[in-house]
Amino acid sequence: MAAFTHHIFICINQRERGHRRGSCDSEGDEELRDAFKKEVKRRGLAAQVRANSAGCLDQCELGPTIVIYPQAIWYGGVKVTDVPRIIEETIIAGRVLDDLLIPDDKLNCHK
Ligand code: FES
Repeated sequence: MAAFTHHIFICINQRERGHRRGSCDSEGDEELRDAFKKEVKRRGLAAQVRANSAGCLDQCELGPTIVIYPQAIWYGGVKVTDVPRIIEETIIAGRVLDDLLIPDDKLNCHK
């Protein structure tokens, strides 16, 4: 079996309301993770692409956050409505979505 081409890690960390850093899944419903799983399946990509839950990716202020490996593409402010174009544009076509991209100089800058 061929190796996976992409692993999409979706932060589903939930913190209490009012936490100074916020959290990517404030409702705790894992809706974003589920949307990725459904879209991967719907597009027939399940043999090549994994959509996995992740704990805090330490980019909370920029969330909801996902990271795609091995390409190391970080996206922030991701909404359920972004999922189809992330799969279409980034996973299938290999294009980075500039409006969602967390640039390298913004990663790990919360301190
Ligand atoms: S809570 Fe999602 S990156 Fe920290």
